[in-house]
Amino acid sequence: MYTLGEFIIENRDNFLHSTEGLLRLFSSIKLAAKAIHKEVNKAGLTEDIIGSSGVTNIQGENQQKLDNFAHKAFIESFKSRNVVCGIASEESKDFIVIKGKKENISHQYIVLIDPLDGSSNIDVNVSIGTIFSVYKRKSTIEMDLTIEDFLQIGNQQILAGYIIYGSSTILVYSTGNGVHGFTLDPSVGTFYLSHPNLYFPKIEKIYSINDGNYAKFSNGVKKFIKYCQENKNNRPYTARYIGSLVGDFHRNIIQGGIYIYPRTASSKEGKLRLLYECNPIAFLTEQAGGKATDGSKRILDIVPKKLHQRTPFICGPIGMVSKLEYFIKNNDE
Ligand code: AHG
Ligand code: MN
Ligand code: MN
Repeated sequence: MYTLGEFIIENRDNFLHSTEGLLRLFSSIKLAAKAIHKEVNKAGLTEDIIGSSGVTNIQGENQQKLDNFAHKAFIESFKSRNVVCGIASEESKDFIVIKGKKENISHQYIVLIDPLDGSSNIDVNVSIGTIFSVYKRKSTIEMDLTIEDFLQIGNQQILAGYIIYGSSTILVYSTGNGVHGFTLDPSVGTFYLSHPNLYFPKIEKIYSINDGNYAKFSNGVKKFIKYCQENKNNRPYTARYIGSLVGDFHRNIIQGGIYIYPRTASSKEGKLRLLYECNPIAFLTEQAGGKATDGSKRILDIVPKKLHQRTPFICGPIGMVSKLEYFIKNNDE
């Protein structure tokens, strides 16, 4: 059984940047993930984790106590490892600068993070996650970080992944050489390789969309939902929607399915955040043989204009995503 660390060293040639840097990045990510895993697992027993923190975050959403805990856990963990120079988090208005020793060449990575994805599921014991995205800094190490270091195009990601806190805690990542998943053995606190080379299966089974918003969807999206529901040619589609992007995506990559969060009549930009949610999941999608778009454009080619930018988001097997794009093109434009 490979541990995550052993796997990285064994496959060091697949990562074009510093192996030491990648190991340190994962050291931070694993530390925070284990802290969150522990909190999540005792959530039913303590008032400290369940419920709202009483704060409205930058997204205009009611921040949960676990959102705040996860945000702080990741910031502290990255600060302690001397590898990340800047972090932008869904839970923080501005980017955060981490000063390091200038001579340390590993200290040049930018992290964008959704510390706790699926907040509405915390209090009801349903899967939640963390989504992370890593870039090399653009400014030189002698300069101060600028917003441009954070507003990088998704195709520049050097590492992207998520952690799902579900029936087990699983870390899934890609550095651009396939998608690999590692399951935490909580008795020893170690992540072991459990899902090598995750790839969308040939058979597509699932469509995932919050159809409570149906009345606000465009005609193209409505027609696609009907297409999935009709049983012509024995198409075997079934609907599954958790309301945690990480949970929905993790199921879809294993079982074969499309995830859709389109623009609606009341949210023209959609709901999901380009930098913290869509770019990393799009990177994994492509690495797993799938396609990720906003309905017409490739997500990984969108030039971000602001940190908390939202975008319509569709990801999944190429055939299903292309089919939805076809419906959108022919009915909405
Ligand atoms: P977050 O908890 O980080 O704010 O993200 C929630 C996101 C995403 O995980 C999920 O797929 C989607 O919001 C669910 O939204 P609806 O409740 O509108 O379906
Ligand atoms: Mn989220
Ligand atoms: Mn979140």
